[in-house]
Amino acid sequence: MAVIAKMNPDRKVVVVDINAERVAAWNSDDYSLPIYEPGLVDVVKEARGKNLFFSTDIESAVRECDIVFVGVNTPTKMFGRGAGRASDLQYWESTAREIKRFAKSDKIIVEKSTLPVRTAAAMDAILNDHAEHKFTVLSNPEFLAEGTAIKDLLEPDRVLVGGPQNADGATAIREIVNVYAAWVPKAKILTTNVWSAELTKLAANALLAQRVSSINAIAGLCEATGADVDEVAKVVGADSRIGPKFLKAGPGFGGSCFKKDVLNLVYLCETFGLHTAAEYWMGVIKMNEHQQERIVSRLFREMFNTLANKKIALFGFAFKADTGDTRETPAGTVARLLHEEHVRITVSDPKALVNARRDLSDLDGIMYEEDEYKAADGADAIVLMTDWRHYPSLDWQRIYKQMRKPALVFDTRNCLDAASLKDIGFKVLNIGK
Ligand code: UGA
Repeated sequence: MAVIAKMNPDRKVVVVDINAERVAAWNSDDYSLPIYEPGLVDVVKEARGKNLFFSTDIESAVRECDIVFVGVNTPTKMFGRGAGRASDLQYWESTAREIKRFAKSDKIIVEKSTLPVRTAAAMDAILNDHAEHKFTVLSNPEFLAEGTAIKDLLEPDRVLVGGPQNADGATAIREIVNVYAAWVPKAKILTTNVWSAELTKLAANALLAQRVSSINAIAGLCEATGADVDEVAKVVGADSRIGPKFLKAGPGFGGSCFKKDVLNLVYLCETFGLHTAAEYWMGVIKMNEHQQERIVSRLFREMFNTLANKKIALFGFAFKADTGDTRETPAGTVARLLHEEHVRITVSDPKALVNARRDLSDLDGIMYEEDEYKAADGADAIVLMTDWRHYPSLDWQRIYKQMRKPALVFDTRNCLDAASLKDIGFKVLNIGK
């Protein structure tokens, strides 16, 4: 919404949330925003107070506006039907009811949350049943990735707007296309029916997640045979039909979206009796979980089949670099598996320690240390989990001196210079090598 406001100075954008603390952070004088995202603060500085406002007054905002973008959370449902797979839509539904209650004129309602296909129909039914005003429900899924959100928004590969295939739908689609056309070339703004738009979001994330699981499956084979997964990925990706992106082997994918969306797809396939397709997509998740188990098994083997009471420092806890987000982070799974082995764990991360503490609060004995040198002090092993840019340029000689010998580095992101680490004296493990 901040980028929409920046690029549409003539439109007023009001962001509302029921969480007063977060709204206060968005409004804070020193711009201590509630999320870390490179470049975001500059966009907020430019637009806030001019045409971008943050508020808890949902009623006024709904009353005043012509378009409502709904971005409430749709976590994986943990109870009842579809538990562990389907999306929990209760927040979406209560938001829809609230919009209906406060509205005093016709509105365009835009789904921004990822929702399983055909939710728009339910929303349409809730909003338009016995309503005084007309609500046209569109789907406008977001394709930005965390850490590069601002760039992805300013220079998107495509923008997708799905809407009902009737006159009202066409008018509403045109309205939303115009919001983006302020900075996105028209040719990149694609329009579809609502169902296609909803399914496209799930399909895009599932295909990306599937590439990561596929290369990680190849990585295991590389370790067993002496091939090098980075070499394999480079040559495979040089085929223009495949392309080089999302072929980086690592600790497995994390983040709030991939697992949730693939599970959603599994649930949808099951619901429609497509059991083989459901199993196929479930394989993407299983492969991902297997990758973290493999990391711990290899550590176990390489550290003389006992990890109890050894000290291991996790370098990086965020699910990827340039974010403090730790949702579904592979580092969390690895920390739990190591904790089961009675490892003395120190977690280090430049941006994610607050979240790490919260995520692991049920485990006792975990230490948290932002300074990598202190985290590595006296450790038997370092497991690099997140490819933070500064890790390769740390003083590895100094780190080596401080560690117990033999000192091991497991670089699960293949981002360190293994040869020079070996020269220093480290035992080095990589993924897929
Ligand atoms: C993902 C999609 O990339 C976005 O297009 C989408 O809009 C977003 O989900 C969403 O649904 O909101 P995000 O989860 O922020 O974005 O981050 P990614 O860059 O996709 O990374 C996901 C995970 O895959 C990370 O843990 C990353 O380390 C891992 N990954 C990615 C790999 O292990 N190897 C790769 O080659 C690429």
